[in-house]
Amino acid sequence: MAAKPAPSPETPPRHVAIIMDGNGRWAKKRLLPRIAGHKQGVEAVRRVSRAARQLGIEVLTLYAFSSENWRRPEEEVRDLMGLLRHFLASELEELISEGVKLKVIGDYKRLAPDLVTMIDQAMARTVDNPGATLVIALNYGAQAEIAAAARKLAGEVAAGRMSADAINEAALENALETHDLPPLDLLIRTSGEQRLSNFLLWQAAYAELLFVDTLWPDFDADTLAEAIGQFGRRQRRFGGL
Ligand code: FPP
Repeated sequence: MAAKPAPSPETPPRHVAIIMDGNGRWAKKRLLPRIAGHKQGVEAVRRVSRAARQLGIEVLTLYAFSSENWRRPEEEVRDLMGLLRHFLASELEELISEGVKLKVIGDYKRLAPDLVTMIDQAMARTVDNPGATLVIALNYGAQAEIAAAARKLAGEVAAGRMSADAINEAALENALETHDLPPLDLLIRTSGEQRLSNFLLWQAAYAELLFVDTLWPDFDADTLAEAIGQFGRRQRRFGGL
């Protein structure tokens, strides 16, 4: 395959994902309860999703709740679900008026029934929107996503609709929840931690990784623009020279 040219700083990445970390530390620094950090985290979600659209980013994927986050204290899980409810209720009209498509990845069907309904309705109401896509990962774990894709292909083979030899990278990729999205270009994690925490493991194969010290509630349009600038200065070789 011919090496793809490095994008110029003016070419925004098509697909950016963010591990939004540091809400708790943001609150702790201010002697506030953790929920205060999460509330400011939601404000950052609003700000940054708008900024991403203005920068011409086609898809923004945000890690809002991992399949491991259930291990947090019950009260914090309840608070996070409450913020999500509020976000969906208050943001939907703007997403519609701006032509944004909302997509949720992860096992969100295991959330509270009212939230599942809200998510299904929000996705249905925005499915034909022509603009940018906002992807929210909820009860998401990349290993579970890959296992589900393998299970799906195994089912096809067992039913005689596919031969085992046809299971290759493209087939597996097509069975992932992100099959309809452009390839992941840039994965950002905030708050100085340098881990992928079971997020988009398959999709990150050739993504640029960027770890920034900014705590998520402090992330804004300028931090995003700086990250995009850094992406533009990286040389992506996709295994070539
Ligand atoms: C990590 O900070 C953040 C989370 C586990 C949740 C992220 C959720 C939001 C920003 C709000 C909900 C999102 C939407 C889309 C409405 P942390 O609590 O692990 O921070 P710490 O490592 O400093 O404790």
